Amino acid sequence: MTTIAATLEAQLDEVSLRQLRVIAGVAAQRGLQAYLVGGGVRDALLGLPIGDIDVTVAGATLGFAQAVASALGGEVMAHSQFNTFALNIADRRIDIAMARRESYAHPGALPTVSPGSMDDDLARRDFSINAMAASINPDSWGELLDPFDGRADLRRGVVRALHDASFRDDATRILRAVRYAVRLGFTLDTHTLRLLRRDLTHIDGISGARIRHELERIFQEGRAVSILDRMQRLGVTQTIHPALALDAPTLEALRRAVNCPYADKAALFLSILTYDMAASDRVAFTERLRLTSRWAQVVQDTARARSSVQDDPSIDVFSRSEIYMRLRARDEAAILGCALFDEDGAAARRLTLFLRELRYVKPMLNGNDLLELGVPQGTRIGELLYDLLVARLDEKIRTREDEISLVLARLESATDG
Ligand code: CTP
Repeated sequence: MTTIAATLEAQLDEVSLRQLRVIAGVAAQRGLQAYLVGGGVRDALLGLPIGDIDVTVAGATLGFAQAVASALGGEVMAHSQFNTFALNIADRRIDIAMARRESYAHPGALPTVSPGSMDDDLARRDFSINAMAASINPDSWGELLDPFDGRADLRRGVVRALHDASFRDDATRILRAVRYAVRLGFTLDTHTLRLLRRDLTHIDGISGARIRHELERIFQEGRAVSILDRMQRLGVTQTIHPALALDAPTLEALRRAVNCPYADKAALFLSILTYDMAASDRVAFTERLRLTSRWAQVVQDTARARSSVQDDPSIDVFSRSEIYMRLRARDEAAILGCALFDEDGAAARRLTLFLRELRYVKPMLNGNDLLELGVPQGTRIGELLYDLLVARLDEKIRTREDEISLVLARLESATDG
């Protein structure tokens, strides 16, 4: 039996090591065997930092998960009908799952789940590199279960599906395959690549929410643009939606987005990916992916920011206040997405001016100040505040005194009139 005890000890931080030993202790008291599974084992063997801790135990129940949580001083946050448990231990998350067997009634269906052995649990997984488990039990700590030769594939740098029906069972694995290959600098195994091409159309059977979730995970990757580029060359993006075309300008804009300090990369990517879509495609894409209201807003605002600023032929003579009025209700990611698309153009300069400066402009006077200056209560207050904002945006006034003079002048001209 291969052991990776030393690797686990080197790759896991102190806290995780201690937590795994506690989990294994609780399991041993109940006669159960606990394993670290999936990405944690893969990353440990690659010498990468281990992100999420996923533990699988044949026969895990809610009672077991609660006993682990209390031994670790945390709580069970979530519990699914398939006996998967999310534990929160001092702001760290640990996932514990019952070992399971899965079958698919038809392509794209959610799996039918039943309790199973560790072998069943590894056999239900996507790729050999994700289908390994390391024992965390005291008497077999570090023993590796690797029924599909995942370790050899890690050495060869290959992403390989476990069986020929893998992508048909769950076509989100097509997106996952490309994500892992690009992230790890691996190639897709030749037969797996054939299966991927054969089963592309099964993406149509996957719900919008699940595709969206996979795209979100891609957007968070350091090499997100290369993943999308590879997906495009394999025909994956076009299968998700025909308008999801990544031509050279789109890829360029996405690369600029990666280097831009804006935090919500997913929203920014979405804006750029939909920037060139026709109106009907935008609607169809939004529906296909069942976009959340924020994301739908980003898509819509990208089109609006583009048409009201970028595509307007009179853009060269826009005043600062005009730019402000056209963009003030638009989502920030949408404006930035448009700016990144046409970085050196006149439009981009205006979009950037709005984001850097104009959106923060406010008059110094407020409604109370206007009342004190003698403006009657009612709509006149709002109108004058608007006039002050426009004058300030267009740099016609600078000081508080300038604002007071403008208000008094307007009051006077109203009285004269
Ligand atoms: N899995 C699968 N098929 C899927 C999704 C997940 O077989 N469609 C399995 C894989 O074995 C994977 C594990 O469930 O390792 C956990 O999934 P996930 O958390 O998505 O991946 P990680 O392995 O943690 O990888 P990542 O580094 O991307 O988070």
